[in-house]
Amino acid sequence: MNNVVILISGSGSNMRAIVQAALREDWSGRHGARIEAVISNKPDAEGLAWAREAGIAAEALDHRDFASREAFDEALMQAIDRHSPALLVLAGFMRILGPAFVWHYQGRMVNIHPSLLPSFTGLHTHRRALEAGCTVAGATVHRVTADLDLGPILGQAVVPVLPGDTPEALAARVLAQEHRLYPRVLAGLLADLAAGR
Ligand code: GRF
Repeated sequence: MNNVVILISGSGSNMRAIVQAALREDWSGRHGARIEAVISNKPDAEGLAWAREAGIAAEALDHRDFASREAFDEALMQAIDRHSPALLVLAGFMRILGPAFVWHYQGRMVNIHPSLLPSFTGLHTHRRALEAGCTVAGATVHRVTADLDLGPILGQAVVPVLPGDTPEALAARVLAQEHRLYPRVLAGLLADLAAGR
């Protein structure tokens, strides 16, 4: 089995889209892949309860309980590695991960970022895209490397910027596409893993 562990911080709508696609498309039968665990750095993340109800091991590891970023990263690695992940999926995980963590999951960690990378790394991507006068916006799935939002791109979705758009309206339009893009890219990666590519 190629185990998948998903990290979230909030509503976990991307995580839900991934779990639903895995069921609908039978990732277990087709790719030997299983969504094994969901871990959040926020105990009250809505997505945790949803994952539990879906029968997935779901756990919170509150970063505020740790004295340093390194101590949190170390505990998080231990929690993740109990599930032996072939793929570690960051889905709205809002903590910056240190170099030791990134190195440990090198080659098997992916992230989704709500912009057309390499434009607008970091926060407030939709407001910044509107302020810059972009006529298109979107989301990017990429490998996570030491460059944070700048690892190799695995897939992108593009949406139009519409007249009168607010950051919230644009964010909602992009998020709907994230829910299509992320499962599609992951299914491709898992198919490659299953085929030994
Ligand atoms: C998404 O827009 C994701 O790209 C960004 O944070 C949002 C998380 O949404 N990093 P959700 O928790 O998946 O609903």
